[in-house]
Amino acid sequence: MSEEITPYQVVPKTPLAGSAAAEIRDQGEISRRSFPWVLTIAWSTLAAALGGLASILGRFLFPNVLFEPPTRFKAGEPSLYALGVDERWKEKYGVWIVRDTTSIYALVAVCVHLGCTPNWLAAQNKFKCPCHGSGYYVSGINFEGPAPRPLERAEIGVSAEDGQIIVDKAVRYLYERGQWGDPKAFVKMA
Ligand code: FES
Repeated sequence: MSEEITPYQVVPKTPLAGSAAAEIRDQGEISRRSFPWVLTIAWSTLAAALGGLASILGRFLFPNVLFEPPTRFKAGEPSLYALGVDERWKEKYGVWIVRDTTSIYALVAVCVHLGCTPNWLAAQNKFKCPCHGSGYYVSGINFEGPAPRPLERAEIGVSAEDGQIIVDKAVRYLYERGQWGDPKAFVKMA
């Protein structure tokens, strides 16, 4: 005879079949075990995204700016210069200051071929470009190699305030335009 079920009777749970129960238990285990990994990946992704955002913001707030030295500088009194090529300003300002028997002038240390920096070879009394071999006399006039014209001279003068030489590399004087005779292209020496 079958057992009758009244409305208030608690029906005992039917135990799951052994394999199904084990499967559900295993899935639960796997989910629990994999949860920390999911969390780690989520945090890593978030951190990477925030890092990228911070980098973009940093670029915006602190853009890459090339700080060039000023083009205008004081170079001491004329009497400090002996005859010949003075290299003390070359590295910082890219200029040689040259004294000859009658004047002081400032040569820009940029090869007019393709822009390399020539070297002053005192033993050979010339400027020599290491890139393609252009050579320039101490005056700056080219005489060998592919350079198509002389080096450029920078504006030079003497300060009325303190008697120091002032060079302005932003203002150039070109031999081929007849500008080396300009009073601002040299300082006359007695
Ligand atoms: S850059 Fe000086 S010779 Fe070419």
